Amino acid sequence: MPQGPVTSSIHTMADVWDAYRSELDGVEDRIHQNLTSSVTLVNTVAAHILNSGGKRIRPLLLLLCARLCGYAGREHHQLGSLVEFIHTATLLHDDVVDDADIRRGRQTARKVWGNQVSILVGDYLYSKAMCQVVEFRSQKINEVLAEACKKMAEGEVLQLYYNGNPAMPEGDYIKIVEHKTAGLIAASCRMGAILAEASEEQQDCVFRFGQYLGIAFQVVDDTLDYTANGASLGKTLGQDLRQGKATLPLLHLLNHCSDRDRQMIKDRMETRTLTEGDLQRLIDLMDESGSIVYALNHAQAYITAAKRELRQFEEGTAKRALSVAADYMVTRDR
Ligand code: IPE
Ligand code: IPE
Ligand code: MG
Ligand code: MG
Repeated sequence: MPQGPVTSSIHTMADVWDAYRSELDGVEDRIHQNLTSSVTLVNTVAAHILNSGGKRIRPLLLLLCARLCGYAGREHHQLGSLVEFIHTATLLHDDVVDDADIRRGRQTARKVWGNQVSILVGDYLYSKAMCQVVEFRSQKINEVLAEACKKMAEGEVLQLYYNGNPAMPEGDYIKIVEHKTAGLIAASCRMGAILAEASEEQQDCVFRFGQYLGIAFQVVDDTLDYTANGASLGKTLGQDLRQGKATLPLLHLLNHCSDRDRQMIKDRMETRTLTEGDLQRLIDLMDESGSIVYALNHAQAYITAAKRELRQFEEGTAKRALSVAADYMVTRDR
């Protein structure tokens, strides 16, 4: 079975986007065709976030895993668009929970229309995705996606439980990340394999691939919250600590800094204030203590584990693209 467009020249993420441009355009078309609420405000708010330049990582992984497993059909465009709807719903909710003002370089929906609208349109996108997913009439797809949504909610609640607590064990941080982020990414990979009617063993491999990759993805997101260029990231830097969230680089720093600095961090987490000067001080401390390198090494280890899961698949364009996409998770700047 073909693994997608024939090209052996995939080296960077830009090459991946190029090679699968028409496939991704298919996903994009479906995203717009699915925005059909009779309530105009729903479409306006959903379009505000959906048209603001998301990376479309989850649909991309879904279609690459489908091709990896020999899928030759076109249903993956629709399924990919529904996964993006669910991802978008989580962002609309997440920006309320996190009090975020900027996403993808523009004002968040909650900032423009308010928290209530952001939550309700998020609910709409979840429900709309589920309405469309059941049309696949695949019990397996329903189960995989429902499980991922349940896990996301658990991850968010566990994160909230630890809010403001600098003593969160690293194992619980990984549990949060695995639930809130890796679950949907892993489900996207498995759904691609399900569409391709791949064996259970292959489905399990791409699921684990997605899970490891998803953990790395969130660890890098949490690192970028300190190190990124705000303009390219399209989000406000330092927002995690400002919201009382301890993430991997900060947990490392807390274990490796002076009592005085630890007290300063605890204070900022409790009071939810973080000036530009505080942020710069933290970045300097993280550099000195190797906290950023520590987090990125962690992410890299998960990427290595993810790529190991691809071994049993035959060489080809999709496998190459998945491997490049895996590397991109750690090197990305947005
Ligand atoms: C942001 O996800 C939320 C996380 C899970 C870190 P993405 O980084 O995939 O967001 P977009 O869709 O590209 O904006
Ligand atoms: C991702 O966590 C949350 C979801 C899985 C929805 P973050 O809160 O770190 O995501 P960003 O940084 O706001 O995109
Ligand atoms: Mg957030
Ligand atoms: Mg983040």
